[in-house]
Amino acid sequence: MRVLAIESSCDETAAAVVVDGRVASSSIVASQVDLHAKYGGVVPEVASRQHLVKILPVIQEALATADCTLDDIDAVAGTRGPGLAGSLLVGYNAAKAIAFGRDLPFLGVNHLEGHIYANWLAEGEEPSFPALCLVVSGGHTDLVFMRGHGQYERLGGTRDDAAGEAFDKVGRLLGLPFPGGPHVAKAAEQGGPSTLELPRAWMHGTFDFSFSGLKTAVLHTTQRGGYDVPTIAFAFQEAVVDVLAGKTSRLARELGATEVLVAGGVAANTRLREELRRRCPVPVRIPAPKFCTDNAAMIGAAAGFRLALGERSPIDEDIFTTNNWAKV
Ligand code: KG4
Ligand code: ZN
Repeated sequence: MRVLAIESSCDETAAAVVVDGRVASSSIVASQVDLHAKYGGVVPEVASRQHLVKILPVIQEALATADCTLDDIDAVAGTRGPGLAGSLLVGYNAAKAIAFGRDLPFLGVNHLEGHIYANWLAEGEEPSFPALCLVVSGGHTDLVFMRGHGQYERLGGTRDDAAGEAFDKVGRLLGLPFPGGPHVAKAAEQGGPSTLELPRAWMHGTFDFSFSGLKTAVLHTTQRGGYDVPTIAFAFQEAVVDVLAGKTSRLARELGATEVLVAGGVAANTRLREELRRRCPVPVRIPAPKFCTDNAAMIGAAAGFRLALGERSPIDEDIFTTNNWAKV
């Protein structure tokens, strides 16, 4: 089954052609980073207007790169939520319009489920269940137990900032460009261990996370002075990675998970990838970096298994902006 997938939940306009939920024949991402950089964050109204400009060219490029036309497409999928309402509406309605106009099956996909299914976009055996998923994106940090396709149980998550959000806010505190995540990671490569110890919120007895105290500690460190940017970036990244890898590996052991699946933009972080692989008692899967950050191929992958089971979405279904793992 060849699926045309569309993603526009935040600030990337993306389209992809995905075969049988496993092979991305194309994955086109038009990033709006430069547009939002001067504001230091995503401006929702600017984002949705830019999606309108980009959506059709991006879909056309995805079809052309996959060497096909709409005649070759078997179904259309679009990101339904969570995300920014104005952004979601553009891609979701484009997907619906194409499905309606061509009389094709249509499916709305949860963006976070899409991030998890980026792990299916690799050669070789597909992931096995039960799997523990660590979802670390700009808006979410969740530990989710997955007993089978489409079955999610949230066992922990952040009580305040998401991991990506913490990276972005610390990037701003350190005077680094937007989005902070990759820039903090890059600065950390120039740093190393020092006398600077930043706090880890272990939230004992839970599998929850908290990153706001760490962010405040970085603020106080920059105000006091005495450490350069690479040293602070290094200490911050180590603190985040220590808690994420520590809790994920412990929960994987307790649950008897057969694999750990990592998902979301922060999964592109090299130190996190290293440390999860070092500490987890079972194989750790992490998508290729281009499939970690927002893209439509992951939406096509998640759509692949649901469509194969006969699932369809009503054409008049609305977007949603907040996630509920029990209802994915
Ligand atoms: O999943 P994603 O592309 O968008 C959301 O659904 O939120 O995640 C974006 C987040 C941003 O906070 C970004 O700074 C972070 O992922 N990120 C990183 C890295 N690359 C992207 N954080 C740390 N290290 C990276 N290499
Ligand atoms: Zn995302």
